[in-house]
Amino acid sequence: MSQQPQQDIMDKIVSLCKRRGFIFQSSEIYGGLASTWDYGPLGAELKRNLKEAWWRSNVYERDDIEGLDASILMHPMTWMASGHVTSFEDTLADCKSCKKRFKVEHLVKNKCPECGGDVTEPRQFNLMLKTYLGAVENEASLTYLRPETAQGIFVNFQNVVNASRKKIPFGIAQIGKAFRNEVTTGNFTFRSREFEQMEIEFFVKPGTDEEWYKKWVEDRFDWYIKFGIKKENLRKRPHEKHELAHYAKSCTDIEYKFPFSTKGARLPDGQGSASGGGWSELEGIANRTDFDLKQHMNLSTKDLQYFDEETRERYIPYVIEPSGGIDRSILAFLTDSYREEKVKDEKRVVLGLHRKLAPIKAAILPLLKNRDEIVKIGKSLAADLRKSMRVMYDDTASIGRLYRRQDEIGTPYCITVDVESLTDKKVTVRDRDSMKQDRVSLPQVKEYLLEKFE
Ligand code: GAP
Repeated sequence: MSQQPQQDIMDKIVSLCKRRGFIFQSSEIYGGLASTWDYGPLGAELKRNLKEAWWRSNVYERDDIEGLDASILMHPMTWMASGHVTSFEDTLADCKSCKKRFKVEHLVKNKCPECGGDVTEPRQFNLMLKTYLGAVENEASLTYLRPETAQGIFVNFQNVVNASRKKIPFGIAQIGKAFRNEVTTGNFTFRSREFEQMEIEFFVKPGTDEEWYKKWVEDRFDWYIKFGIKKENLRKRPHEKHELAHYAKSCTDIEYKFPFSTKGARLPDGQGSASGGGWSELEGIANRTDFDLKQHMNLSTKDLQYFDEETRERYIPYVIEPSGGIDRSILAFLTDSYREEKVKDEKRVVLGLHRKLAPIKAAILPLLKNRDEIVKIGKSLAADLRKSMRVMYDDTASIGRLYRRQDEIGTPYCITVDVESLTDKKVTVRDRDSMKQDRVSLPQVKEYLLEKFE
């Protein structure tokens, strides 16, 4: 795979996603809606598995994080307080010749980077998507589709403290949709206008923030490795001062080496290039200080301070925020696990997805679809396994084809039922990666698989 041109790999991923039902262009029958995507049957499973893995690692396996599911629509004052109304902007210029629109930082000597034409005066462009609530569309009914899930956590800080009785340091985790009217789009799902975030706001005592910030950078980096991203394709990149968001004291991006151009990504001088080596942000870990809680305290006039019962101190906590994107992660997990191999002179495409992420856990493939007894065993095994995991039954091609189909979508185990199964009551379980085969007795198959998915 490393020998293939980067764009080639990207094209193959996009094509596989459409052909096998991972990701479709939104509203495709109407010509599509730019930078919006729909997850098909396998994509929906992969997404669910990814969210489950993140939630399990961060909420269930720790005792210092609670979950939240806040609404997308929030009081418009939220976005005044957060600074998004005034600061969540791109500065853009239009090319007078080819009419394309660019961020000012992407112009080349103040000319269009594509055709070299003259550009218009730069204009500020707010990325928040507006909407109106109620019957009348005016300034009073104006609100926004949230551009980050984080603010739902900040405005609920006091509610969660009161309800959960959690003591600082503790965090609140949330997975949900966010919307941005992005102007530089492209690269498949990488920069979409509707996307999902997985965010944690981790509240700490001021003075301990640096230590927690470092811990979270390591923790989140290791998480991607744990779920299968190759270490050589992942790096940590601390932000330069001029790159920091308006709320951040420091920030480190976890970047993935995507197989596309880094044009349009925020990169400091000398890193990446417009033609390849696509190191781009997968997740950012920011030290947001007490910026957000302070702002909400000021605008709402509610006391959002934390009272430490042990030390009798009252203070506004600092916040460390690991903020990742579901869609970008899916794209990274797909591209990282994609490989092409030669098996007996035939090409085999494999998605070597981590077992926990794989959309289909096992496929049941009867060797002879015309033998009722074989079909019966296969269908009854599938029905039993379905109670515990997502499985697929397929008898619509030769066994070689059936294996290839499952390899290409990342199914870790294929189970074949053959003539011998009728007498020895065993089936063959084939491992996707090693292609090693085990003969397993029918009553033991479920346990055999469940053990692999623990
Ligand atoms: N609350 C902090 C925050 O929203 P961000 O760096 O703007 O920070 C966090 O976004 C993560 O959300 C990014 O690392 C990325 O994975 C994802 N993300 C942001 N904008 C996106 C977009 N337009 N399309 C897809 N994912 C996006």
